[in-house]
Amino acid sequence: MDAGKRLRPTLVILVSKLYGRPSPAFERLAAAIEMLHTATLIHDDVLDDAALRRGRKTLHTTWPVAAAVLAGDYLLAEAVSLVAELADARIVRILADTLRVMCSGEIADVFNVHSAAEARRAYYASIKAKAASLFAASSQMAGILADASAEQVVALHLFGWELGIAFQIVDDVLDFVGTESQLGKQVGSDLRQGLVTLPSLCYLEASQGENAVQTVLSGTRDEEHLAAAVQGILASGAIESAMAEAREHAARSKAALRALPDSRWRRILADLPERVLARRN
Ligand code: IPE
Ligand code: IPE
Ligand code: MG
Ligand code: MG
Repeated sequence: MDAGKRLRPTLVILVSKLYGRPSPAFERLAAAIEMLHTATLIHDDVLDDAALRRGRKTLHTTWPVAAAVLAGDYLLAEAVSLVAELADARIVRILADTLRVMCSGEIADVFNVHSAAEARRAYYASIKAKAASLFAASSQMAGILADASAEQVVALHLFGWELGIAFQIVDDVLDFVGTESQLGKQVGSDLRQGLVTLPSLCYLEASQGENAVQTVLSGTRDEEHLAAAVQGILASGAIESAMAEAREHAARSKAALRALPDSRWRRILADLPERVLARRN
């Protein structure tokens, strides 16, 4: 739990194996991506004022907040430095673009106030920016480093992109159905923050009239209303509807791999979408 799942660096290493090119360069890229990811988690926990991460107290609750923010910045600098050693301007550019997109997604979450009609579009824009972008960049950069053909790099990007969307939907479902000990972070935190994620969206889209979820989202966030809103969502088909959307993206992720050379490593990559759907942590 302390170390996290290291899913994004795993993508890099699996792609290096797929092309039969394991080398220290891939390890450097994998480490850089995990550092960038960890930096965004430190910053995200400041934004969300989260108490727990990976089963431990968050950095900004144990250090002065400004120092925690700088620790995140330090990790970002370290990530850029590692990637610079690869001496490939395309990879540096992808890393920079990804970080920019992730920051814009995080900022959009802070100002997450949308009309009901806008909510679905805003949700998908947010998870593409926060999660899909880094998964996509991880497999794409590994493909470039492996000298994969342009067509295969596009397929690797799509594989990571769709995997990242499925991953974040499952994360948003686990915020309702998971436990703090499995996840190492607090559950129920999205509604508590007034953040509309796919389970709430599916619930709102299927319900008519006043309900507890609307009450919470309009600002009444005491424990009683929160519990009623969570219960409402769990008792409805909203979790299953959200998972059905995650399954569609997982299937697209797996399908993208058809463009890549068949091997044992491709089969291991092809198992990841299913594993992401079944994950409990
Ligand atoms: C957490 O990512 C942030 C999201 C995109 C949901 P992970 O669930 O991969 O976090 P760790 O690295 O395993 O802790
Ligand atoms: C994902 O944000 C974190 C980043 C990708 C920066 P969330 O706020 O949705 O994720 P958790 O639940 O804190 O891990
Ligand atoms: Mg968060
Ligand atoms: Mg957040």
